[in-house]
Amino acid sequence: AVERTISIIKPDAVAKNVIGEIYSRFEKAGLRIVAARMIQLSREQAEGFYAVHKERPFFNDLVSFMISGPVMVQVLEGEDAVAKNRELMGATNPKDAAPGTIRADFADSIDENAVHGSDGADTAAQEIAFFFKPEELCQRTR
Ligand code: CMP
Repeated sequence: AVERTISIIKPDAVAKNVIGEIYSRFEKAGLRIVAARMIQLSREQAEGFYAVHKERPFFNDLVSFMISGPVMVQVLEGEDAVAKNRELMGATNPKDAAPGTIRADFADSIDENAVHGSDGADTAAQEIAFFFKPEELCQRTR
């Protein structure tokens, strides 16, 4: 089914100037960008976005990293977009990421792992609503 998912290009990948290379992978996989915004997250926003990880030992480092520079946030749309984006990203830890995936090619560590993607349809809907109003999602009909 045609789905939507959130993709975040994290501060490490923005700093490496590989936004375009990552976008190119989405487009070559048939995913369409239907909304996008560059944002410098506040600590409160980053804590809110990752609230599900609040009790994890890596939470404070994760929040500090996510506010260390701007992030590029986009909504990707396409057939099986959630799974397709996860496939393109590769495993959370770049050491475990398959060759040719975004994390294998651009990430340095599990903490600075280049991209975030929604892990399921429900999370995707929540994460899209966190960053975008419904009317900010564009129709890509042609
Ligand atoms: P992300 O998909 O953005 O979701 C939470 C992030 O926490 C994850 O990617 C990693 O960058 C980071 N993280 C750091 N340590 C861990 C860990 N042990 N397990 C999962 N995520 C971790």
